[in-house]
Amino acid sequence: MDRDQTPRRAANADVMEAPDPLSHVYPLDSRRDDSGRLEVGGCDVLDLARDLGTPAYVYAEQDILTRARAYLDAFAARTDRFEVVYASKAFPCTAANRLLSAEGLSCDVASAGELFLALRGGFAPERIYMHGNNKAEAELAYALEQRVGHVVVDSFDEIDRLAHLTRGAGVSQKVMLRVTPGIIGDTHTYIQTGQVDSKFGFGLDDVPAAIERCAASGSLHLTGLHAHIGSQIFDLAPYETLAELLAEMGDYPLLNLGGGLGIAYTADDAPPTVEDYVETLLRGAPDGVTVLCEPGRSLVGNAGITLYTVGTVKRIPGVRTYVAVDGGMSDNLRPMLYDARYEAEIADRPGGSTLCTVAGMHCESGDVLIRDVALDEPRVGDVLVVPATGAYGHAMANNYNAVLRPPVVFCSGGEARVVVRRETHEDLVLRDV
Ligand code: LLP
Repeated sequence: MDRDQTPRRAANADVMEAPDPLSHVYPLDSRRDDSGRLEVGGCDVLDLARDLGTPAYVYAEQDILTRARAYLDAFAARTDRFEVVYASKAFPCTAANRLLSAEGLSCDVASAGELFLALRGGFAPERIYMHGNNKAEAELAYALEQRVGHVVVDSFDEIDRLAHLTRGAGVSQKVMLRVTPGIIGDTHTYIQTGQVDSKFGFGLDDVPAAIERCAASGSLHLTGLHAHIGSQIFDLAPYETLAELLAEMGDYPLLNLGGGLGIAYTADDAPPTVEDYVETLLRGAPDGVTVLCEPGRSLVGNAGITLYTVGTVKRIPGVRTYVAVDGGMSDNLRPMLYDARYEAEIADRPGGSTLCTVAGMHCESGDVLIRDVALDEPRVGDVLVVPATGAYGHAMANNYNAVLRPPVVFCSGGEARVVVRRETHEDLVLRDV
């Protein structure tokens, strides 16, 4: 593949045009070299695309660590009583779990599969919180067998199920109650979870009865209340209200305020800082209580980018230019599910003014990754970078059209290591019987 590697030059000028500064949606410490080529974690993304193929999820390892430390430091500067719980659904990957368990975070798992990955990634069982609005008996049994620290119980049926299992096994289990506080997070409706009309948790009116049901079980030890109002949230005010509201519902050692801090997907997005978020959580919490929060997206979202290769450019005069890449809704469902907006650029020719629609390669007209993004005259063979795909990209990847899921690559200090390999066609038939 012949890629133009000559430096960009300003029209009618001898001087080289300085590349625009990278927007804050890119992983921390990403840079463009003098010719405008993007580097992430010290690795040239064109080299990565050539060596590993595309599509590929590329993460700057240091970005994840820095953001984890920002959470730990923000809490530690204000209190001794806290726990930062990684919501592993954002990026359920052993290597990420390894990084974050080694940093001293705890882990939120939403299924037996995520529990398996968390254990594999080195999280001590007692630091694991098991979530889910409909945990199967087998999942609860697995959690008990693995001695997870907490099960976050979500319904009366689950309390009964867990009570039955614990009594049968002659064990006790620490639990938290998931509360639906009636707070509507300012985000896409699909990812709001705090409203009364929700499949998750106990409505405020049901909380006293749920507390009693746990007490009556004799085997469930209630350590605190939990609520998660939604995801990709920029307005912090509801978190203060939430802490106050939960604190009024009972005196417990733990208070888990969920996750949800939003991230920047485009240069215009200005999410609150981790400092401000943590400050707000603690402001509403009573003294002496251990405050937990469960960030997912804000730990890993901006650490990851996706690399694609442009395969076709279709110009429909007066209508639109479609730039089709070698991935799409199988590696990033977020544009289709939540109308999520992303940026993009050609890896070695940032900027540009050709208005394009980046389409995927799936058999569906809705398989559009980005509508109306300005690129530098894309051509076949260009490597296209979509930043801020680190959360819920790999997590929601699928095999639509029997497309192979991309590898996950961690970059640090100029070294790249594949932590999840690309799928193969053989993988597609592994479960055939
Ligand atoms: N805690 C609980 C109980 C949750 O349900 C979630 C996310 C989190 C923590 C982490 O939220 P975060 O900090 O990542 O916002 N697929 C959607 C997001 C679904 C979020 C589900 N729960 C997306 O791509 O936007």
